[in-house]
Amino acid sequence: MKDLSLLVLPGDGIGPEVTAEALRVLHRVARHADVTLTISHGAFGGASLDAHDVPVTDDLLERACASGAVLLGAVGGPKWDALPSHLRPERGLLALRKAMGVYANLRPARFFDALADASPLKRSLTEGVDLVVVRELTGGIYFGEPRGVSGSGDARRGVNTLAYSEMEIRRIGRIAFELAMRRDKRLTSVDKSNVLEVMALWREVMTSLSAEYPEVKLDHLYVDNCAMQLVSGPRQFDVIVTGNLFGDILSDEAAALTGSLGMLPSASIGDGPGLFEPVHGTAPDIAGKGLANPLATILSVAMLVEHALGRRDLAVAIERAVENTLSAGHRTGDIARGGEKVIGTTAMGDAVLAELETILKSEAA
Ligand code: IPM
Ligand code: MG
Repeated sequence: MKDLSLLVLPGDGIGPEVTAEALRVLHRVARHADVTLTISHGAFGGASLDAHDVPVTDDLLERACASGAVLLGAVGGPKWDALPSHLRPERGLLALRKAMGVYANLRPARFFDALADASPLKRSLTEGVDLVVVRELTGGIYFGEPRGVSGSGDARRGVNTLAYSEMEIRRIGRIAFELAMRRDKRLTSVDKSNVLEVMALWREVMTSLSAEYPEVKLDHLYVDNCAMQLVSGPRQFDVIVTGNLFGDILSDEAAALTGSLGMLPSASIGDGPGLFEPVHGTAPDIAGKGLANPLATILSVAMLVEHALGRRDLAVAIERAVENTLSAGHRTGDIARGGEKVIGTTAMGDAVLAELETILKSEAA
């Protein structure tokens, strides 16, 4: 018997709806695994701005760091868009990542046969795509100093700084090599070493690390080339490792390949508790209407089960339940095509739970 204390941050927009469905799945899996879940909720992002006038409180950051894992919905929305940058919900997210020290962001992008027609690319290109973007998350240009806008008139100047230490590059590299070892043993490191000194260091450190992982085939791509290859030949990729800003951009591109952002989970991990969240945003236009696709958050729970509980087998069970649900034809609006019948958030959660039940029972038998 194991315990897991989980901090749930539903956030804004569709966040509360999708986390509610994902929690139902987590409860079911915890019961199966004989894990006692202790769940507490916190206000984060816009919800925190409304309650406390800041996107995240120090108290919440402490609770996150003291938890066993954090499940996050999504943050932001038009209501808070006009706030000065230090008060925007996104700042709360960056502060949370930094405080938790989750320096590695894992963003899998997988082809689902049932969604092939939802991709902007031809099936012949997307069929079989199964890649993970490993994005450095607590450094690089997102956090570099100096930063800010100073001066006045024509001399007014905005500055951000792209810096990585060897330690930061090595530790994200290790996560990526280890992941590649558990997958197809192919790693692509993405940089801009033809222009940026910091990226030449990135390439040098990744290359030196590869001596420790002789089984992994490492190659390097410039980021512009990688952006192109992702649409012209996405199947060539297994694990992609890159810095914070490039990873932000490439992971959205990889997400779009698969047909729906509503399908993509993420795990952010470091030396302490992990942070698990869907890649999609708050979708204010459909918030509160019970229409949102909960599958990305359910798949984020699968990543939580793997990383926080060490139960890869149960993560796979959740992934299979999602696949079976799609194969059975269940669709929320974002992934429905043509005349397909559309169901809501809770009905989608029900469908996944039913499939999960069958899988868990057949395993127990
Ligand atoms: C993401 C988002 C965030 C980021 C924003 C909301 C700060 O785009 O998680 O990819 O840029 O990291
Ligand atoms: Mg992004």
